[in-house]
Amino acid sequence: MHIAHSAAPLGAEVTGLDLAHPIDDATFRQIEDLFHDRGVVAFRNQQLTPEQHIAFSRRLGNLEIHVATQYLMPGHPEILVVSNIVEDGRNIGLADAGQYWHSDLSYIANPSRCSLLYAREVPVRDGVVLGETLFASAAHAYDTLDPALTQRLEGLTAIHRYGDRYQKQQAAGGRGALSEEQLRKVPEVRHPVLRAHPITGRKVIFVNEGFTAAIEGIPAEESAAILPQLFAHIVRPEALYTHRWQQGDLVMWDNCLTQHRAIRNYQLPLRRLMHRTTVAGLPQ
Ligand code: OGA
Ligand code: MN
Repeated sequence: MHIAHSAAPLGAEVTGLDLAHPIDDATFRQIEDLFHDRGVVAFRNQQLTPEQHIAFSRRLGNLEIHVATQYLMPGHPEILVVSNIVEDGRNIGLADAGQYWHSDLSYIANPSRCSLLYAREVPVRDGVVLGETLFASAAHAYDTLDPALTQRLEGLTAIHRYGDRYQKQQAAGGRGALSEEQLRKVPEVRHPVLRAHPITGRKVIFVNEGFTAAIEGIPAEESAAILPQLFAHIVRPEALYTHRWQQGDLVMWDNCLTQHRAIRNYQLPLRRLMHRTTVAGLPQ
């Protein structure tokens, strides 16, 4: 096994490790330590069946079943299909997943520990793989925030919501509506703006452009002014790691320590097919 850190404050690449079969406990702990430190770990050259992808993911915790059930893999509801592929006139997966900065499932009461995205097909044009994913370190953002602002935000909570975002994406095309019942499953929730990582205790800024609607406990105008400032601070170029996919990559990211965003710079007939598992937050 070989580990290489990226030059950014997050991100690492692992080569020479086969995740198709259970790895030993010592190696698993080494991967977890690396993961808690770097927030994003990319395993290259994997050949995983859905069962193997699920089995490795389960070692990190229970798996969430995504509310957009129309995009779950038939027979494997633990896998959310992220894809631009259309079959029989219908998208086989979420075609527009995450084209804005976000943290997966920040809109539920116990936010996800991490997600694991596996690249089955990647779009290539002129030898260049398109559809990169950008990652930003929310811990680096905390560490570099103006101390006066940190002090102002200490103890405050923010509202996170899924429905608004989904409806925006739906209005832009490419998604079926969520049913009333699906919407009821994702009521708005509240989280600390400055959150301690549940495992390492490391402090992060836990608001994101995708799902955070407002900061509570301060005037609405102040919230409306501060949020965009925080979003911009979190995604400063120096804090970013860009993942350039290869077919067979399994990339796992920490949904507390990091945020991410998809780049949609390809279209059919170039196909992109990804499978995502999402690990639940540890019981609180
Ligand atoms: C996701 C996501 C980004 C991408 O699956 O959660 O945001 O590049 N995907 O597909
Ligand atoms: Mn995402």
